[in-house]
Amino acid sequence: MRVSRKFQKLLSFDAVESLWEHVRRWTHPVSSRRILATLDRLELTRLREQYPYRPNARRINAYENAARWIGINVERAQDLWLDRTPPLRILDLGCGAGYFLYVCRFFGHEGLGLDTDEEPLFRGTTELLNVHRVVSRIHPQVPLPDLGEKFDLITGHRVCFHRVARAPSGEWDEWASADWRFFIDDIRTRFLKPAGRLLLDFNPRPEGSSFFTKKLRAYFLSEGARIFRSKALLAADPNQRPRFKQTRRKIDKSL
Ligand SMILES: C[S@@+](CC[C@H](N)C(=O)[O-])C[C@H]1O[C@@H](n2cnc3c(N)ncnc32)[C@H](O)[C@@H]1O
Repeated sequence: MRVSRKFQKLLSFDAVESLWEHVRRWTHPVSSRRILATLDRLELTRLREQYPYRPNARRINAYENAARWIGINVERAQDLWLDRTPPLRILDLGCGAGYFLYVCRFFGHEGLGLDTDEEPLFRGTTELLNVHRVVSRIHPQVPLPDLGEKFDLITGHRVCFHRVARAPSGEWDEWASADWRFFIDDIRTRFLKPAGRLLLDFNPRPEGSSFFTKKLRAYFLSEGARIFRSKALLAADPNQRPRFKQTRRKIDKSL
């Protein structure tokens, strides 16, 4: 991160929200080390040797770096209060290497991933982590495959499936509101339990200004989303504004 951008961030509302997340995690610490100790890191290294980096691959995609990815996913779980909620059934869209669902298991949750099968490393890591996944590609205005069940929580971290094509400028051409409407409606009607929630966590935009375009933010808000930093949280019921903290009463009502 460039110094000027870091400085801007320090002064921004985003920094305050980021600090708040840190404080909340700090008050309920979780030992990433304990989770990390359960992983076969030699096998992860071997998988990376078997499936080396593509040319120009970004440093962030060092998925064999278990310490980094367990740490990130423990924080994701903490931010959804998953270290303190009764067992949930979770669907992770674009599950990648499978670390999120692996971490969730330590808090008593069970889950299913969904991803394409384009990245052989992910085939290896999900098997190693014993994370079950459905191989499927999410397309605009196409229903997701029938998964035969409904979920308490559906997540998408560093969401990419809404990117349609990359323009010569490097900018992504993304889903329009109608595509999001179709997707959210499909998720709400076919995949979420009555008190279920959908969490979409976005990458920062290239200019570093925000995680959402103005239009996307307005659209998610019109769908009842609670937006916090990079995350949009939506309830199964469009008339409800969901909370990151889910109470037992709310979950029980959903069963
Ligand atoms: C940036 S990675 C994030 C992986 C993981 N969620 C994480 O945060 O570590 C994006 C993931 O979305 C998957 N993906 C991209 N486009 C997709 C699509 N149209 N349908 C399903 N998965 C997709 C990729 O294969 C990849 O695993």
